[in-house]
Amino acid sequence: MTRDTRPPYAGTRPPKLADDSPGFLARIGHGWAERQVPAPVDDAAAKAAAAHRARLSERFPDRTLVLSAGHARHRNGDADYPFRPDSDFVWATSCQAEGAVLVLRHRPGGHDPVLYLTPPAGPGERDFFASAAHGELWVGPSAGLAAWSAALDLPVRPVSEYAAPADAVRPAELSRVVSGLRMIKDDWEIAQLREAVEHTIGGFAAVAAEVPRAVAGNLGERWLQGTFDRHARTFGNGPGYSTIVGSGEHAPVLHWVRCDGPVRPGEVLLLDMGVEAKSLYTADVTRTIPVGGGFTPTQRAVHDLVEAAHRAGMDRVRPGAHYSDFHFAAMEVLAHGLADWGLLPVSVDEALAPEGQQHRRFLACGIGHHLGLDVHDCGSSGYEQYQGAPLEPGMVLTVEPGLYFHAHDETVPPELRGIGIRLEDDLLVTETGQDVLSGALPIDATGLERWTREQTR
Ligand code: GLY
Ligand code: MN
Repeated sequence: MTRDTRPPYAGTRPPKLADDSPGFLARIGHGWAERQVPAPVDDAAAKAAAAHRARLSERFPDRTLVLSAGHARHRNGDADYPFRPDSDFVWATSCQAEGAVLVLRHRPGGHDPVLYLTPPAGPGERDFFASAAHGELWVGPSAGLAAWSAALDLPVRPVSEYAAPADAVRPAELSRVVSGLRMIKDDWEIAQLREAVEHTIGGFAAVAAEVPRAVAGNLGERWLQGTFDRHARTFGNGPGYSTIVGSGEHAPVLHWVRCDGPVRPGEVLLLDMGVEAKSLYTADVTRTIPVGGGFTPTQRAVHDLVEAAHRAGMDRVRPGAHYSDFHFAAMEVLAHGLADWGLLPVSVDEALAPEGQQHRRFLACGIGHHLGLDVHDCGSSGYEQYQGAPLEPGMVLTVEPGLYFHAHDETVPPELRGIGIRLEDDLLVTETGQDVLSGALPIDATGLERWTREQTR
């Protein structure tokens, strides 16, 4: 007997596909074993967030505060971009749930916290199968409100009960204060940053190991970018910012994330890459390596100058120094080097004066920044809190001087054109000086040549 494979509506107008067939509804809602899903946050993370809330509470003794995780950006139709929660919210909760809201309602002597969350849609609810955002059949099982409450030791309510308080601190003011508080990292945050750096160093090794394949297979910069991103997604949450891989004439482009060029022997390859840990703290490290395993004399000379500037800058990262000190120390070394090469149209003193700055033609960017939950962390702080402030133990900064000679720069000798070198390390300010978290990667040209060869052996 042959089966009739024609659909039941054959010969008529197809019916609208609907989720309300009585048979389907009767069948989908039950017969599922109950599952206990723990909240994806451990005790140490929950305790760190509680301590952060306590610091925040002290700053606003008689005001109500609201922090929101936010929502994924809409992409098209029913598709969104990947969700990444707001960093201030994560700092205060260690929760990464989309749409969550934390309210800290003031009372005499402190604040009462309530976390509002979207409950997961389980069997028996329509959203179980109908909500692509929350339905278990779409997104997998998620922790319920009781599990979150137990993990974070806070009252947790359904987000449908949330009503914006009339007297809350304005978001811009709150974000400026949280930004300042986030500048000093506690032990748990430092451990997260160390983990992010460790995985980043692993990612550098993975990328360097793939360079011969990228060259031989003509797979180009994209292959190396993908290699790092896969590593970051495997060992952390993903890349902490768009991965920068620039070979040859792309190396001088400060943020070359297009990565659509080839990788050729003889070129320098600038790798600016950071793993964002699962806790969302990110590393931000740059090394420039020789594609064939050895720098040319000119490439090495540029690298040596950047290394000298990097060492001078890193040495100024210590408590009591001003934030801007490492910037100026590195700039001074670079300006002298450029003058020695005849690349400054004025004296070094004139170039270093605020109205001069001619040397910055070859590095039109900053030389570092705070690092934490965001790659450019604490960016909502004002000048007095950030550039104008002294360094304190617990701060984590990048130092990242570079020299960028573009292929079409007619003011430099042809042999310099198309060389871009940056060195970037992540530094913790300690009680006595600095701890270079990314110090396992070499910063000198010879060390980098050796390291590069070791990865491809
Ligand atoms: N790593 C990218 C930046 O600091 O701008
Ligand atoms: Mn950086």
